[in-house]
Amino acid sequence: MEKYTYSPDVSDESDTNEEDTKMVDDPLCNPNRPVKITFEEITSAAYKIRSGVLNTPCIRSHLSALTGMDIYLKKDFLQQTGSFKERGARYAMLMLTPEQRQKGVVAASLGNHAQAVCYHGYQLGIPVTVVMPIIAPIMKIQKCREFNANVIMEGKNMDEAKRIAVALSKERGWTYINGYDNPQVIAGQGTMALEIMEQVQDIDAVVVPTGGGGLLAGVAVAIKSLYPSIKVIGVESERCASYTKAIENGKPILTTIEGTLADGLAVPMIGYNAWETSKTLVDKMVIVKEEWIAVAILRFIEDEKCVVEGAGACGLAAILAGQLDECKGKRVVLLLTGGNIDTTILGRCLERGLAADGRLVKCKVTVSDRPGGISELCKLIGSIGVSIKDVIHERAWVASDVFSVEVKVVCETRDYHHSIELRELLFSRYKKVRFDNFPPKCAVKTN
Ligand SMILES: Cc1ncc(COP(=O)(O)O)c(C=O)c1O
Repeated sequence: MEKYTYSPDVSDESDTNEEDTKMVDDPLCNPNRPVKITFEEITSAAYKIRSGVLNTPCIRSHLSALTGMDIYLKKDFLQQTGSFKERGARYAMLMLTPEQRQKGVVAASLGNHAQAVCYHGYQLGIPVTVVMPIIAPIMKIQKCREFNANVIMEGKNMDEAKRIAVALSKERGWTYINGYDNPQVIAGQGTMALEIMEQVQDIDAVVVPTGGGGLLAGVAVAIKSLYPSIKVIGVESERCASYTKAIENGKPILTTIEGTLADGLAVPMIGYNAWETSKTLVDKMVIVKEEWIAVAILRFIEDEKCVVEGAGACGLAAILAGQLDECKGKRVVLLLTGGNIDTTILGRCLERGLAADGRLVKCKVTVSDRPGGISELCKLIGSIGVSIKDVIHERAWVASDVFSVEVKVVCETRDYHHSIELRELLFSRYKKVRFDNFPPKCAVKTN
C-alpha cells in the first residue's frame, strides 16, 4: 500500500481536472495518489477497535419467507451511537500520534460519522469539532452536542461542510478525519465484514448501503480476500447515486443529489481511495427508489421490530423492489448500518410505506348533498372494516349538480386486497369515484 503522504503540488499529473484539484485539500485523500486499503490493515483495525466497538449480532431474518431468500441481518445499528461509523472513527483516532490527539480532530458529516467521532473522541479524551450541513437531521445534531463536542452547523450540503472542516483543520492544526475516504476509516468499516464471515457460513451475497463508498470498499476487500465467490452488491438511493455515476464516468465525479430518506448516503462524490480500493471488487450496484426505502423501513419495524434509518434499509428496499431477484433461494447478508432516524421523519416514512404498500389509500367520491349522504358513505366504508383517517368535503368547486358534494376520504385498510375490496365497493355504489396514487399490485406485499 502506498504511504499516506500529502503533496499539494498536483500540476505534474496529466489527468487532473478542476474537480480533482478542489478535492486534493485532504492530505489522506489525494485524487492523484489514491491508496488501496489492504486486508492486513482491516485485520489490524479489527484487533485495535475490539475493546471499544461492539461485535453486533448477525441473525436470520423473519423476512426470509417474504423475500424467498435466506436473509441474515447484521445489526450494526446496535452500536452505541446507532451506526457502523464507530468502527472507522475509532480506528482512525487510535492511530493518531500523541501530538495529534492533544490538538484534536475535525470532521464533516451529515450525522453518523459526526456522532461516532464525537463519542469516541469523548471516550479517548480527544477534543472534537464537527461541521454538520444545515440539512443534517436534528436528532443526529443533538447527539453530537451530548458528547461535549464543538458542533458547527454550516454548509448547505456535505461538500460545503467538508470544505469548511478542511479549512479549519489547516487553520487550527486539527487532524481532519474524512468519514468515507480516510484509509483508516475504510479499514475500520471493513471489520464489519470480518465479523459477518465468522457469524454466518456459506454466504452467497452481501448487500452494502453506499454513500461515499468507504464501507463498500472495506467490506469488499475483506470479503473478496477470504471468499472471492461471495457477491458484493452496493445499493444507493436514486437521489444520490454517486457510486453509479463514478462507474459511468470511470472515476469519482460530482453528482447532483436531492433530499432523500437515506440521508446518510447523501454524498455528492465518492472517495478516491474508496473508489481505487473497490472498483474491481464490486459485483453489482443497484439504485433504489425512495418509496421502496419507505416500505423497507416499515417492514423492519413490523416484521423485525427494528428501527432502521433509510440508509440502512436500502438493501431490503432493493430486494422488495425485485432488483436482486438473482439472489432468490440464496443466502444473503444485509448490512443494517444505522438506526438514527428523527421521530417525525420516521412517522412520515411509515405513512409513505403504508401508502406504497396499498394500506393507506385516498379517494374522492361524489355523493348526494341531501341529509345523510355523507354519513351513508362513511357507513358503507365502515361496513367492510375499513377505518377512515380523514374526511374533507367540497361543495363550491364540484362540477356536477348543486345537490352533490365531493368527499375526499383517506382510509386505512388491512392490506392491499382489502383496498381493492374498498375500491370495488365504492365503484359499485357511486357514479363518480376516483382513487389517487393507488399502488400497482406488483409494488406491494400480497401474501
Ligand atoms: C447508516 C449509513 N449507512 C451507510 C452509509 C454509507 O457509508 P459510506 O459513506 O462509507 O459509503 C452511511 C454513511 O454515512 C450511513 O450513515
